[in-house]
Amino acid sequence: MFTPVSHPEWEVSTDQQRLDREMIHRFLGETYWAKGIPRETVDQAIDGSCCFGVYEAGQQIAFARVITDFATFAWLADVFVVVSHRGRGVSKVLVRAILDDPRLQNLPRWMLATLDAQGLYEQFGFRVVSSPERFMEIRRANPYGQPTAN
Ligand SMILES: CC(C)(COP(=O)(O)OP(=O)(O)OC[C@H]1O[C@@H](n2cnc3c(N)ncnc32)[C@H](O)[C@@H]1OP(=O)(O)O)[C@@H](O)C(=O)NCCC(=O)NCCS
Repeated sequence: MFTPVSHPEWEVSTDQQRLDREMIHRFLGETYWAKGIPRETVDQAIDGSCCFGVYEAGQQIAFARVITDFATFAWLADVFVVVSHRGRGVSKVLVRAILDDPRLQNLPRWMLATLDAQGLYEQFGFRVVSSPERFMEIRRANPYGQPTAN
């Protein structure tokens, strides 16, 4: 199994078997973008994505997943760090590891949506889309029975 980054305190892993699905579901279900998401939907999303976990002393402290064909496009989603570990650079180690993953090199386009973390992603080269009128979407306002944003 490829281990993208080794850090004195944190280990970034792409091993889907290690993910703490219970914790991921609990966290995502309270976010503004996936409020109320069912466990089954989280499981399907994890199974269909390229997932990254950050671990400290064996405990998962951060998560992100990449929805991708590994050739032309990648969507970075569900990035979070557990509250008790925020403000120490974990998300920066995580995003760096994702962008450095050998399976995800030279993609013509990466995208993501965020309410307020633009300053994080800008540090890694993400920019506000230059031609928003070219992008379209289909959105369900209430996908999990509760209003969501992004
Ligand atoms: C956003 C989040 C992942 C940041 O994780 P973190 O490990 O605490 O952040 P880091 O310590 O790695 O620092 C993040 C960097 O991005 C910057 N940043 C920009 N917007 C930010 C935001 N909304 N929240 C936190 N950091 C932000 C910080 O200033 C920091 O930069 P600096 O070190 O140059 O000052 C974390 O706060 C989180 O899980 N938030 C809830 C979920 C969320 O909103 N995810 C983003 C959805 S796309």
